[in-house]
Amino acid sequence: MSREEWKRVAAREAAKFVGDGMTVGLGSGTTVAEVVRCLGGRKPDAIFVSSSSSTQQLAEKLGLRLASLGEHPKLDLMLDGADEVAPDFSMIKGGGGAHTREKIVASAARRVIIVVDRTKLVSRLGEKFPVPVEVLPFAHGYTARKLEELGGEPELRKTSAGEPFITDNGNYILDVRFGEIETPAELEQVINQVPGVVENGLFVGVADEVLVGHEGGCARLCSKEDFLRFIEDNVQK
Ligand code: 5RP
Repeated sequence: MSREEWKRVAAREAAKFVGDGMTVGLGSGTTVAEVVRCLGGRKPDAIFVSSSSSTQQLAEKLGLRLASLGEHPKLDLMLDGADEVAPDFSMIKGGGGAHTREKIVASAARRVIIVVDRTKLVSRLGEKFPVPVEVLPFAHGYTARKLEELGGEPELRKTSAGEPFITDNGNYILDVRFGEIETPAELEQVINQVPGVVENGLFVGVADEVLVGHEGGCARLCSKEDFLRFIEDNVQK
């Protein structure tokens, strides 16, 4: 099975958590797009709140019922992807630049299920992926300097045309390498105190469960013990 197939396997399982009458937040990225495609095929009688314009467009095209977070400030469920997931379910998100809205939508949800392929599981955050930090364009040079003072190596995210990547909120993204992150909860707070920062992609204490697509199908991880057992059984062999 390819990585794309692992994503699809996990997405199919994730879509099964959506039932009639539910209010459901949708994150963004290629894995969530697979979840949305599954939901589009089944069309449950649920209301969806999207955290990005790309997910919104896809969900609309597939005929899902969409509403705003203002209309539904309490959600039953949020389904989202991640760039890295650590054993305690802390995460790095924002590879698609949508982490600010994703964090808001997740905080409105009673239950958050993260959908990934097995390559996203890490023993410590920052192993592979930088921390995306959404910043005000006005402040990005200054903010980058302040993030360097915190020990980070910021790089302005650019499009393939070499222009600054612009988020759905009209801001820039700094991708900041901190090396392996020992205390993500602390770093999440410290980054957000830098003037010009809108929100960063460290998500701590957000995910309730993680669905992992892998060679053997989809694993449902509900605890750190599940995570470590999965690694032992599937990744290190
Ligand atoms: C977007 C995100 C995505 O969930 C994350 O980047 C994973 O994306 P993909 O499923 O394409 O690997 O946080 O802001």
